[in-house]
Amino acid sequence: MSGEKIHRFLKEHRQEHIIRHIELLDKNEKDIFIKNLNTMNLELAFQLYENFSKPEEVKTYKEITPPYIVDIEKYKKEKEMLSIGENSIKAGETAVMIVAGGQGSRLGYPYPKGMYPISPVKGKSLFQIATEKVLALSLKYKINIPLLIMTNPETKEMIENFFNGNNYFGLTKECIFFFNQDILPSITPDGKLIIKEKTSIFANPDGHGGSLKAIWQSGLLDRMEKQGIKRIFYCHIDNPLVNVNDPVFLGWHIKEGAEFSLKVVKKREPEEKVGHFVISDGKPTIIEYIEFPDELKYKKDINGNLIFWAGSIGIHFIETSFIRKINKDGFALPYHRQVKKTKIDNEEKEIWKFETFVFDAIPLADKVCCVETIREDEFAPLKNKEGEDSPEEVKKAMMNFYRKKLEELGIYVSSDVKVEVSPLCNIDVIAKGLKDKEIT
Ligand code: UTP
Repeated sequence: MSGEKIHRFLKEHRQEHIIRHIELLDKNEKDIFIKNLNTMNLELAFQLYENFSKPEEVKTYKEITPPYIVDIEKYKKEKEMLSIGENSIKAGETAVMIVAGGQGSRLGYPYPKGMYPISPVKGKSLFQIATEKVLALSLKYKINIPLLIMTNPETKEMIENFFNGNNYFGLTKECIFFFNQDILPSITPDGKLIIKEKTSIFANPDGHGGSLKAIWQSGLLDRMEKQGIKRIFYCHIDNPLVNVNDPVFLGWHIKEGAEFSLKVVKKREPEEKVGHFVISDGKPTIIEYIEFPDELKYKKDINGNLIFWAGSIGIHFIETSFIRKINKDGFALPYHRQVKKTKIDNEEKEIWKFETFVFDAIPLADKVCCVETIREDEFAPLKNKEGEDSPEEVKKAMMNFYRKKLEELGIYVSSDVKVEVSPLCNIDVIAKGLKDKEIT
């Protein structure tokens, strides 16, 4: 929109404070401010504001039943799945997409969260760990696996420089693709845009679901498909335990003919704040913990086990054709309103952020496959500065995992020794030399 159009648009949407602000800027600042406004879909944000301002309808679910989930015993036993998955990787049909566009506000780290030095001994960053996992697989299967990293417009340059400065952590530069997700303006509860700096307003990335739009919008999906990629492994940057491009999971996904697959873990307790994977009104769906009815949350079977035990952990395989399908008539995922506290002019204020969630794609898929994984093996997200999901907790979980893996190979590391296993290390080979040794 040109300056004049923006002026009209802002007036229509009762943003006189922004008009007054623009009038006080010099020509250069004005141009930058308008350029910044034009990087986001203001129309959509105001539409969402209108929608969420109406009295909220309480969401009701007619029928919620437990879904079919490949349990951990079945999951691991299937040799056939491993070979199906490995064949797909070797044929160059997979790419890995890591979403790293979040603001990481709870962690409060002054750089993008992926740069956080999380590994317990070497202090490797989350980005390094994830990239080395892709490199290890590329070496193992003798095929370049593309790594797609979603950033947001504020962090892209810093993240690219970080990779560049670290030689792409050993991966060929041509195999890594950075792409931006969209941002949307944050809005006050009374419908106002918020001035951040002289030439910008407060904005937020449009949620991890935005990855399914951005990969398509950026042309990256086309490019991947032309290269023969048929499916994308999706995960979050904040979980250093992810089994990236897990071939067994991939085997299940392919064998089941799924468009979208997910991994779940047993909830720690009924109240745990993870999305519940269920069948709702006949469709596989994730219901957020806040919306999950209490009478089902605590329901147990005759053996005393929770009936709705499956928590989603943000690990997926997604067919590229499915991503195309949910974009072709306009992006199909619904937006959510997140009410957050943010420091504005040194004061904590409430703001509304609009986001999409990747798991909202699940009910749109013709076929969904869900497998169980073990929390201790695959889920230790870095979320908070202190307490639960803090760096200290994540490091502990990583060390426990490494210790367990080494023990399976007959190497015992005493609990007071800090331990770390590089994703690049072939521990089966090393184990032959160390077998039955105790490391103290
Ligand atoms: P979270 O929802 O935990 O958000 O993201 P966050 O940004 O890491 O942390 P908070 O809530 O601000 O404290 C889970 C994953 O989704 C990515 C994050 O980078 C993380 O890997 N994400 C989230 C995006 O890529 N874009 C978004 O808009 C939101």
